[in-house]
Amino acid sequence: MEHRIQVNYAIKELFRKHKIFVQGNQQFDQFGGELHFEDMLRIEPYVELIGTYGQLFSLGTSSYSNFSALPIDTVIGRFTSIGHGVSAFPMAHALDRFSTSPITVFDDTVYSPSHDRFGIAPLSIGSEESKGFRPTFWAPENPPIVIGNDVWIGDGVIIKHGVHIGDGAVVGLHSIVTHDVAPYTIVAGSPAIVRKKRFPDEIIKRLEELSWWQYPYWEFDGVNGNTSIEAFIDRVEKLVLEGKISPYRPEPLTAQILLEAAD
Ligand SMILES: CC(C)(COP(=O)(O)OP(=O)(O)OC[C@H]1O[C@@H](n2cnc3c(N)ncnc32)[C@H](O)[C@@H]1OP(=O)(O)O)[C@@H](O)C(=O)NCCC(=O)NCCS
Repeated sequence: MEHRIQVNYAIKELFRKHKIFVQGNQQFDQFGGELHFEDMLRIEPYVELIGTYGQLFSLGTSSYSNFSALPIDTVIGRFTSIGHGVSAFPMAHALDRFSTSPITVFDDTVYSPSHDRFGIAPLSIGSEESKGFRPTFWAPENPPIVIGNDVWIGDGVIIKHGVHIGDGAVVGLHSIVTHDVAPYTIVAGSPAIVRKKRFPDEIIKRLEELSWWQYPYWEFDGVNGNTSIEAFIDRVEKLVLEGKISPYRPEPLTAQILLEAAD
């Protein structure tokens, strides 16, 4: 179920408390006073949501979205960077009807969400003047986009609905992603195709098994930003085995918490 609520003082405080940063010093102007989200919303702390115009989607710790308003059912893991102007495929038109025009879908005399939301002029003659023809509502099935942990999506990428982008993957700027992307794979182009892997296969296997993003990286004693990938895996595996680190489980901001704070 989708929700639309007005931003009030309590909601601004919730964003502060949950360490969710929206443009600079917590300016909500970009949201136009309204938040739009769905039941499954789950945002972990230390997240930046810049320029999403009130569309909230799920993100894990240390992930950010830079002027990329993805669909509200998008699920994004931790440590994932979403570049500028990343989007999902826009709404589809029916391909198997006598016309791809919206005249087969909407009746201009009845309410159409597109008239209200986008100010589109009615296209059809309307049922009052029609001599028999009736449009039939249609909406495409748009399964959610799922983006893993430690993914980097370059500027201007367009992603097809239902695509899963694996942990550690990279998508080159201005790519059109039409198929799932395997973990630690770099894809680019239109359509996006595999260009190379980030690491050799045996390292990728170890990284996937370790799934380091589930742990608090600030407790990776003996690891620096530039530790080699082999030494990184050896060290974090040891910390896990010795029980020196355990998974980080912060309290996320959820749809239910937001709804309770709404007027
Ligand atoms: C994907 C990317 C990270 C790869 O960088 P790289 O390791 O230096 O890769 P290379 O330049 O060696 O490219 C590998 C191949 O992919 C191709 N390629 C790279 N990016 C591409 C793109 N966006 N579209 C089409 N092809 C691309 C290269 O032409 C090359 O092909 P070749 O092997 O046939 O010569 C980089 O090209 C990119 O797109 N960066 C995103 C930058 C960005 O958007 N930043 C926003 C801030 S979040």
